[in-house]
Amino acid sequence: MHPKESSQLLYLQIADRLRTMIAKGTYGVGDRVPSVRAFSQQLRTSPSTVVMAYRYLEAEGLLESRPQSGYYVRPVPIQPDGLHPNALKQAKAEPIPQEAIDLYLRILQETRRPDLLQFGAAIPNPALLPLERLDRCLSSAARSVRRTGPVYDFPPGCEQLRVQIARRNLQAGLEVSPDEIITTNGCLEALTLAFSAVCKPGDTVAVESPVYIGALQVLEHLSLKILEIPAHPVHGIDISTLRFALDHHTIKAVLVTPNFSNPTGSLMPDSHKAELVALLAQRQIPLIEDDIYGNLDHDDDRPRVAKSWDRQDQVILCSSFSKELAPGYRIGWIIPGRWHQAVLRLKTGLNVSTATIPQRAVAEFLAAGGYDQHLRRLRKTYRRFVCQTADAVERYFPRPTKILRPRGGHILWVELPRPFDAFGAYQLALESGISLTPGPLFTSRDDYRHHLRLNCAYWTPAAEGRFRQLGGLLSKTNRSTA
Ligand SMILES: Cc1ncc(COP(=O)(O)O)c(C=O)c1O
Repeated sequence: MHPKESSQLLYLQIADRLRTMIAKGTYGVGDRVPSVRAFSQQLRTSPSTVVMAYRYLEAEGLLESRPQSGYYVRPVPIQPDGLHPNALKQAKAEPIPQEAIDLYLRILQETRRPDLLQFGAAIPNPALLPLERLDRCLSSAARSVRRTGPVYDFPPGCEQLRVQIARRNLQAGLEVSPDEIITTNGCLEALTLAFSAVCKPGDTVAVESPVYIGALQVLEHLSLKILEIPAHPVHGIDISTLRFALDHHTIKAVLVTPNFSNPTGSLMPDSHKAELVALLAQRQIPLIEDDIYGNLDHDDDRPRVAKSWDRQDQVILCSSFSKELAPGYRIGWIIPGRWHQAVLRLKTGLNVSTATIPQRAVAEFLAAGGYDQHLRRLRKTYRRFVCQTADAVERYFPRPTKILRPRGGHILWVELPRPFDAFGAYQLALESGISLTPGPLFTSRDDYRHHLRLNCAYWTPAAEGRFRQLGGLLSKTNRSTA
């Protein structure tokens, strides 16, 4: 058993126990649950395990923490919808509406507007990135190619970088050699290569729903049919619904983001990851795993990748440095398992190679040390920013707005009460000086009409006033439409 597994199972057991007590009414809405110290003594376990259980229930929306006071049963527990095989719809082949793609593009372009607070695109805040050290590495990388000339760095890509990526993957529970890694132009190219290697036009792929819009665009571009599997907002893709889907559809690949998915921020428990890998291995269906947020756990407890359970080389792992170091360098990677040769061929045909100088710069940056320290600082800041954004939403948005406080990443998924409409909220947010992303962009269907995704990486104290203004505008609209 992986060393992390036993403590993780324990906190889940404690969370289950408390959830049952709440369901049975031992603790009602507004009640304070036992203090961490009292509960850990009672259960003869460490306070940190109880804290993990409480934070887990907090993310589920069942508990809320009040500073200096403790944990309380929340008034509006979040009820994930549609977690039942009957919620499964037909695979969809129609294109994503042009208006949705245009709106997504507009939101990306809004990142150039200094008058807006950047809660829209899921980008890191440059103020939190080690820009000076990166600059030095970039200059040094540029100097280093003077000797060879700015030649192509043909696939599999920069060896020093692949060595560093292999080392970093150890923290995610994965032992791979640098030879198993191919560098890419960001994670999106890694996803494109993964689907191109295992599917052909017209095939159906299963994805968690809601899902990152970039992945939807890749699937559409490759003429693949999309089958959306409802995902639990805390645990990720619902495995029993997926099993049902596999029994009733011919599915050629499954895409998941187990560690802090975009947009819900869900974290799949290790037991689910192992179950998912085993389920797909049995049926010989490739699992495409997007781990782009995996390093951003708020607890400094880097979750394992699903690929670390892969005994059949059937999980394709995709990631990049875009969320934690340098999105504009476009440096990502793919670990394609048994599709290694196919991906090498596809990569050469797609764009010959990944850019030489940024690869070397990132390799130098990682080799110089200090990356873990940078990540620790980033995680701590994101934890605070997500919490402050969530507090502002709870304080100012109309009740009962529901939010899930994720355990990692910098994204917050918000559900407005009916009849609020996500597109209307997007317009009101612009009037309040905030860019955000409407929920319907995270599906190929007509869904998530009351949801919003907020990128909390740009939280600033000035955001408080703008959220207050947006909350006021939303409430006014509600009164006029009610
Ligand atoms: C889940 C997910 N995968 C992939 C990407 C794209 O990553 P990159 O910029 O490295 O191509 C993003 C960017 O938002 C994302 O959220």
